[in-house]
Amino acid sequence: MCGIIGYTGSESVKDVLLDALELLEYRGYDSAGIAVEDDEIKQAKVYKCAGRVRDLRAICESEKLLTSCGIGHTRWATHGGVSDENAHPHQVGKVTLVHNGIIENYRELTADYDLGDSLVSETDSEVAAALLNRFYEGNPEEAIKKTVSKLKGTFALVILFSDHPGEIYSIRNVSPIVATLCEQGAMLASDLTALCRFTNRYFVVPEYHVLKLRRDGICLTDLDGKEKQPQYLTVDWELNNAGKNGYPFYMEKEIMEQPDAVERTIAERIRGGLPDFSADGVPDELFTGCDRINIIACGTAMHAGLVAQALVKSLLHMHIDVDMASEFMYSDPVIDKKTLVIAVSQSGETIDTLEAVKYAKKRGAKCLSIINVKGSSIARESDYVLYTNAGPEIAVASTKAYTTQLSIFYLIVAKMAHLRGVFTTEDTQSFVRELQRVPEVMQRVLKERREIHVLASRVLEAKDLFMIGRGLDYSILLEGSLKLKEVSYIHSEAYASGELKHGPIALITQDTPVVAAVTQEKLRSKELSNIKEVKSRGADIVLFIKESLAGDVDSAYETFLLPDMRDEFMVMPASVALQLLAYYVSSDKGFDVDKPRNLAKVVTVE
Ligand code: AGP
Repeated sequence: MCGIIGYTGSESVKDVLLDALELLEYRGYDSAGIAVEDDEIKQAKVYKCAGRVRDLRAICESEKLLTSCGIGHTRWATHGGVSDENAHPHQVGKVTLVHNGIIENYRELTADYDLGDSLVSETDSEVAAALLNRFYEGNPEEAIKKTVSKLKGTFALVILFSDHPGEIYSIRNVSPIVATLCEQGAMLASDLTALCRFTNRYFVVPEYHVLKLRRDGICLTDLDGKEKQPQYLTVDWELNNAGKNGYPFYMEKEIMEQPDAVERTIAERIRGGLPDFSADGVPDELFTGCDRINIIACGTAMHAGLVAQALVKSLLHMHIDVDMASEFMYSDPVIDKKTLVIAVSQSGETIDTLEAVKYAKKRGAKCLSIINVKGSSIARESDYVLYTNAGPEIAVASTKAYTTQLSIFYLIVAKMAHLRGVFTTEDTQSFVRELQRVPEVMQRVLKERREIHVLASRVLEAKDLFMIGRGLDYSILLEGSLKLKEVSYIHSEAYASGELKHGPIALITQDTPVVAAVTQEKLRSKELSNIKEVKSRGADIVLFIKESLAGDVDSAYETFLLPDMRDEFMVMPASVALQLLAYYVSSDKGFDVDKPRNLAKVVTVE
């Protein structure tokens, strides 16, 4: 999962490329590079280095680059370590390119075409450049067509040919590329974040089509050379939403944005106090015609699915599975045309989820996806889409995407309960009214965030810690634990608190931090007993408890009172509190909260 940018136009190309790479850096930040055309030497000049975009900017600073065309890349290493040589762009002969994806047969191609002598890096991407240069005889489209016919795997290639000044070429398979033509020129990128500085109109480059950008025009042709018209979309993100708006990190900004994001996500989907998906084109039959549900997603999106599973089982008494997308295809899932598959993805580009959706559809299932990025690959692959209106989520740690995904799940559950006669109209309206309280309840947690900052100090020095709870609290803590792991590098483990005594309690020693959540009335007494079990073995307790359940709680516990909601909605205030806990631990450790080591925002490799 890398970040790609290409630009040809009237603005300073170097600045456009570097600024865009900073916006795309969340996609991968092991190394960075740009290539800009140099009319004097009739070749693209490449500047690249291991490290961040700021390091790249430093090596380009003194260069007076008079040019009107260039490409750029931020890398999350797959093939080949983090080094200057393995950074993109790669240049072989007349070809300079950047690549996002994995070319699975790069070794065979190197041998079959004897490319070894032209390679200086360990990357699959440079092999693509060498092969393209081998096939290039002056016609870029022909060379591209011949090259991609040999490639196996996923790719978004963005290419400069030294004897085609002012032109940028691109072709993709699975890995994303969006493009636009605006008054500042023509631009393409891995995602909208880099484009929305100039425009909110864009199109998704169709797979296996050759895109040619010139500063005054765009040409899109299929592999038969037939010209195609780009299908422009409009992004409704506030252009300035792609900035930090004064916060030190995007993660804090995005945590704080959640009340508005939830409000935007549900407001247009409630009519007469009832869930209404007609504006999304999602028919009621989708919810009445299925006899089981299978949620597929990764990471935080999968954790949203776990909450939905708890709601569907407890309220609808329906069969529902939640599968990690990367496991789904290999787990012999029970899928048929009566199965409603719900794919959840913030980016809409996670390849594990995309491939799982394709697999499920081949098995006859209908697929509804819950996505944040309009027009993304998973959205296009799905039969129906419910978009979250979270706006751009830049921090690698997903926050507002999670709570807006949950908001949509609450609406789906209410809709299904009403359609299936589980809820009367009044029950449904009451449930929806509770959902409409979420933004205000989240605000109350955000107002108390300094208290959570104090709690963060209790776990700051931890190497290992447990998060314990039962039922919905366990699902809440799985997500809270992932947040803490990925931004603070503390080995946090969420555990069903009733299960600890069957082994893991052996790991509890004096002062082991244990974060507990108690938000479900029916589980309170057992959860408090489990907390006592670890407390008696020396654990240091940090407790997040629903206010109305907090009577006679041991004063030795560091306690945060969560504002009351109906039990099945308590995941909302609890999640915001746990996001803040992770955020403060990471920022107090002095880490780059938005770009944790080894991670990237969009995982487009399997
Ligand atoms: C979330 O904090 C993680 N960064 C990661 O688990 C993420 O949720 C996962 O990669 C799925 O991404 P998606 O929602 O874009 O598909």
